[in-house]
Amino acid sequence: MLVLRTIAEARRACARVRAEGKTLGLVPTMGALHEGHLSLVQAAQTSCDAVVASIFVNPTQFGPKEDFASYPRTFEQDCQTLEEAGVDMVFAPTVEEMYPPGASTIVEVLGLSDRLDGVSRPGHFRGVATVVTKLFHIFGPDRAFFGQKDAAQVAVLRKMVRDLVFPVQLEVCPTVREADGLAMSSRNRKLSEEERRRALVLSQALFAVEKGFQDGERDSGKLIGEAQRILKDVEVEYCRIVDPETLEDIPDVSRGGLVAVAARVGSTRLIDNLLL
Ligand code: PAJ
Repeated sequence: MLVLRTIAEARRACARVRAEGKTLGLVPTMGALHEGHLSLVQAAQTSCDAVVASIFVNPTQFGPKEDFASYPRTFEQDCQTLEEAGVDMVFAPTVEEMYPPGASTIVEVLGLSDRLDGVSRPGHFRGVATVVTKLFHIFGPDRAFFGQKDAAQVAVLRKMVRDLVFPVQLEVCPTVREADGLAMSSRNRKLSEEERRRALVLSQALFAVEKGFQDGERDSGKLIGEAQRILKDVEVEYCRIVDPETLEDIPDVSRGGLVAVAARVGSTRLIDNLLL
């Protein structure tokens, strides 16, 4: 497995892949890898000849009071995991490599960037869109793989790809969960045992909404009311049913919808969602 540290190295490696006539799949990550990330790698390997994973804790998507400094970093272990998974290349640049002094160009998907997580994390999706744009420019992948776990991120990036005509196919992979339902997340390792138990209410609330939907309830307010009862012991930031593309609230779910929740368990912010 090639470990690429600079953009120049990455471009040279890509040129070699292209020269061999191979298709390239990109899996962007911030590391602290788990089964969810690996499911994206596997999807990439299934549909592409060569796979590059990026590991970059992107400072521009963290607010000043957020957990950039304490975000889990497990680079050696991640490399081993990716090597064992048969990934061809890892791109792990420094912050200076991705954001040289004076860099001031940003990508912002207006109208979507300030919904769901964008409300409490102003600038978050601008940071995501900007770094993913750079990764697309560096690698020019045929396909790029993202998780449904970050549904708002998917909506933002889909729109960005459409609006800026990136020649890349976005592939969205289902959320991988622990056996008890908790959505896998790099931030789960920050939870104490007690918090880990309490965190279960996020997925439980979503499953209750799904059950209500399956039983015929179509009123978003009623479905959310049930979820909020289950979420009473955590600090809920949002619990909404929205259109998965526009991220706007929908009053009824006759034509489906995205149930999305964000909550703080202790000092850790967790998100989860489910498509109806
Ligand atoms: P990160 O949180 O590391 O996630 C990397 C990718 O893995 C994202 O597409 C995310 O949706 C996906 N993922 C995370 N948990 C998952 C799970 N349980 N099941 C399936 N997929 C899961 O998302 C980011 O990094 C960053 O914002 C990034 C896109 C890399 C830009 O910096």
